[in-house]
Amino acid sequence: MARNLKIDVVTIFPDYVVTPLAQSLIGKAGQSGLIEIITNDLRDFTTDPHRTVDDTPYGGGAGMVMMPTVWGDAIDAIAQASETSHHELIILTPAGELFSQAMAEELSSAEHLIFACGRYEGIDHRVTEHYRTRSDFRVREVSIGNYVLNGGEAAALVMIEAIARLVPGVIGNPDSLTEESHSIVAEGQEALLEYPSYTKPAEWRGLPVPAILTSGNHGLIAKWRREQAISRTRQIRSETGE
Ligand code: ADE
Repeated sequence: MARNLKIDVVTIFPDYVVTPLAQSLIGKAGQSGLIEIITNDLRDFTTDPHRTVDDTPYGGGAGMVMMPTVWGDAIDAIAQASETSHHELIILTPAGELFSQAMAEELSSAEHLIFACGRYEGIDHRVTEHYRTRSDFRVREVSIGNYVLNGGEAAALVMIEAIARLVPGVIGNPDSLTEESHSIVAEGQEALLEYPSYTKPAEWRGLPVPAILTSGNHGLIAKWRREQAISRTRQIRSETGE
């Protein structure tokens, strides 16, 4: 069996992430032992009767900031319990580096991922600063896109799904990983979007399947798919200006 990946999610809303993670391929990967996913309630690491996780911001302003004390206690305890020597700490924030397929590939070969799901105005920045000084951690502040969510939980789910499917053994047929959007890379070129796919019936609502796909000529089919991927990528990139 392939190597294991351990994933810890830290949140004040464990139910938000536990149920989706138990579903589908990711849930199966958990059952088979390929990936171990643990959801941690941040409030379990508080020390006061009200289980406080936030306070008002220094310098004023709207909203609350999550306290470094409780986050530090949570992350230390989770790292210690992990039995791994290196930890990738991923702090979800709209102010982070943009998540990408390349980052998913890199993180899929890590030993231990810790997803810190902030709420409110985010987590006191000293949490990032402190763990950046630690040789047993690598810290990344990550955003899944240029929009603002109420918290990092949905972003952690997106990242975990993209990462977990790249762990060897999670997807039954690994060939399906090599031809998909963002991973078809021609030499010296950026990744292409995937070509369009068709299945039966051969005609649907007056729309036939492109004739080339039923020709049986595998060389021409491969060429056609590549051209489609290139034109699709050009069109979408010029529309979005990326
Ligand atoms: N938290 C709030 N918005 C976010 C985003 N776009 N990505 C990651 N975490 C977030």
